[in-house]
Amino acid sequence: MASHPDLDRFVAGLPKAELHVHIEGTLEPEQMFELAQRNGIGIPFDSVEALRAAYSFSRLQDFLDIYYRGADVLRTQADFRDLAAAYFDRAAADNVIHAEIFFDPQTHTDRGIAFDEVISGLLAGMADAEAKHGLTSKLILCFLRHLDEDAAFATLKAAEPWLGSIAAVGLDSSEVGHPPEKFARVFAAARELGLKRVAHAGEEGPPDYVWQALDELGVDRLDHGNRSLEDPALVTRLAREAMTLTVCPLSNLKLCVVGSLDAHPIEAMLRHGLRATVNSDDPAYFGGYVNDNYRALAATGGLRRADFATLARNSFHGSFLSDAEVTRHLAALDAYVEGAGAA
Ligand code: HPA
Ligand code: ZN
Repeated sequence: MASHPDLDRFVAGLPKAELHVHIEGTLEPEQMFELAQRNGIGIPFDSVEALRAAYSFSRLQDFLDIYYRGADVLRTQADFRDLAAAYFDRAAADNVIHAEIFFDPQTHTDRGIAFDEVISGLLAGMADAEAKHGLTSKLILCFLRHLDEDAAFATLKAAEPWLGSIAAVGLDSSEVGHPPEKFARVFAAARELGLKRVAHAGEEGPPDYVWQALDELGVDRLDHGNRSLEDPALVTRLAREAMTLTVCPLSNLKLCVVGSLDAHPIEAMLRHGLRATVNSDDPAYFGGYVNDNYRALAATGGLRRADFATLARNSFHGSFLSDAEVTRHLAALDAYVEGAGAA
């Protein structure tokens, strides 16, 4: 891959929002060992290197099997707070000024960890990040789609005392065989409670799952959405509605959703007028945080400064921040782009 030092510097310095990051997917091997020791839990790997070497995936499910096992070291409120703090430190270093983070409560409640323990730890980490870095954040509660509708409803019920601290519900885990329509009633209930809605769709699943996310779940934002490009009518709809797509290039590469970054659809998405954004998904497992994703795209040579500025701009437009906050962040972004001069 060619190196583009000027472009690398430009994309790294862009003020940006991150809209697609699973907090459990930010658990670095070093921290996994640390928490395992703190909680007196064994890990079936001898070293950080051996664990990292196991991160070789040929599809989503390969990753999920390891990701759910890794999450077992997370036990206490302090663990969730430390997990979030480590992510926010890295995000701040990448000039992320706002993040909307996913968490998977069922991964924890199914192991006997209380919902309140999980969310109170995350919220403490979020407050710390705002005080330390000025980095604001919002929380998105994801339902695990391989589990049933009743389990999702029980999770929504457990979240009720915390609704003031949750921005949206989402849908993640094994996509194929678990279409969005399976959760139409849960998403309708979430809407009644005043929550925004997002869903993973079109990562491995067909364009029909993206239609369902739009029509059956009423999503405000789509996670991944890559396979939308197979359906011209869907592309037209997404462009017309200015639907934000939270695209995750290194994740797509590591999970073999794309064969190479040169073949990644993000350039086509922009050319079709889709509101694409760049995100890290599960950075501890996929080899990079948000700036690594921007730089990996820069290395393909297909996108220019103006495209990266658009991608960063889209991250604020696609966020759940207020109009006034979006306007403020866009002004900072425009000042940065102007200060950086012509490419
Ligand atoms: N896809 C679906 N579920 C997930 C992912 C993903 O990329 N990461 C964590 N859970
Ligand atoms: Zn994801």
